[in-house]
Amino acid sequence: MTSVFYRGVTETYPKAMRSDGMYIFDETGKKYLDMSGGAAVSCLGHQHPKVIEALCQQIKTMAFAHTGFFTNEPQEKLAQMLAARFGEKEARVYFTSGGSEANETAFKIAWQYWRAKGQESKKKIIARNFSYHGSTYATLSIGGSLRRRVVGDVLLEWPRIDPCYAYRNQLPHESEEEYGLRAANSLEATILKEGAENIAAFIVEPVVGTTIGCVPAAKGYFKRIRAICDQYDILLISDEIMCGTGRVGSFFAYEQEDFLPDMVTLAKGIGGGYQPLAATIVRHHIHDFFVTSGKGFDHGHTYVGHASACAAGCAVLTTIDEDNLLANVRSKGEMLQQKLEEAFKDHPHIGDIRGRGLFRAIEIVADKKTKQPFPDDANITKKLKQAAMKHGLICFPCSGSTKDNLGSCIMFAPPFILEESHLDELMGKLHAILKDVL
Ligand SMILES: Cc1ncc(COP(=O)(O)O)c(C=O)c1O
Repeated sequence: MTSVFYRGVTETYPKAMRSDGMYIFDETGKKYLDMSGGAAVSCLGHQHPKVIEALCQQIKTMAFAHTGFFTNEPQEKLAQMLAARFGEKEARVYFTSGGSEANETAFKIAWQYWRAKGQESKKKIIARNFSYHGSTYATLSIGGSLRRRVVGDVLLEWPRIDPCYAYRNQLPHESEEEYGLRAANSLEATILKEGAENIAAFIVEPVVGTTIGCVPAAKGYFKRIRAICDQYDILLISDEIMCGTGRVGSFFAYEQEDFLPDMVTLAKGIGGGYQPLAATIVRHHIHDFFVTSGKGFDHGHTYVGHASACAAGCAVLTTIDEDNLLANVRSKGEMLQQKLEEAFKDHPHIGDIRGRGLFRAIEIVADKKTKQPFPDDANITKKLKQAAMKHGLICFPCSGSTKDNLGSCIMFAPPFILEESHLDELMGKLHAILKDVL
């Protein structure tokens, strides 16, 4: 008997009892290798002593003081650490509890910014097809994920462009740069169709996560996107909830793309799973305008700037630096790619192996030549997840569908503390899982 309303109402779940480093153990003592950090969350692995120590210290001193009345030391410190990494020390950071809230905050900043400037018609937020920016009303409306379908027609319908997804959309005669430019120019076409005076912002993941599986953009794509946003006065939001906080080998994913966003959103890795934490980093000229115009900014949740959550965030960032973990993300990421290619390059159902840093995926197709996905009723994603759990592996399967001509993916987003022996363990399990399912 349970009173829990589970995520999967017909599913049964093993009970997680304890965790350590790269592993989680269930109530039977079975051991699971965590190769996705849940969903790109546990960047330091489980039960990291430095974070637990810092968190306990903060909770013993002061767990919470509502930020409508006080500021607190951990949020001041973490905001400074993030602003310094953002490269604009006057940038400001708004802390919330999860990724959806961080993106909602970014949307509210965009809407109130344009209103305060007297440009009230700038309301629409453009996103991309097959994008996920959260599950609240605004974030689900604006994103282009398949999850929208289950809530029917209650959502807002705002414009979306296609993602920059070379494996499926680059034409045979195009160079990578030509494709990147063509994909970016679809933003300009959409702005012109809708009218720039109606567009507040464009939101995009520099490396796409859950929807299409670790897809970086083609060269030059983001440089052109930034130029278009500047030309038409549109704020550019970099959703780094999955791909940020070092996941792709640089602290911010945009750093590898030659552009500076107006806002960056972080979650998942920044709290490392030790606390629910998210951040919306805002360029200082935007924050400044709220101050100097006298219009202010009206928004808030109970747990904004939560002291214990921010203390965990400070410890996560300090540990990433002190233990030089981004170097490990880069080297083990390359090693993971190499091992996946060596093992599966010629596999008849693995169409693509891709990603950056410790953010990698394999795309599974029915036919490698035509890139045709498996039929929806083959339930490949569900079977892959079940087989992975059976073999003691946690990886993140993303659903493909015939209707959308998208393959299913298995995503890997392991803790940054990963060693080569874990990769070897992964490869052994993957062979068994793919044999079971395909
Ligand atoms: C890119 C991206 N944005 C936003 C979200 C929403 O974050 P949360 O689930 O913490 O609300 C997610 C979650 O998977 C995500 O991957």
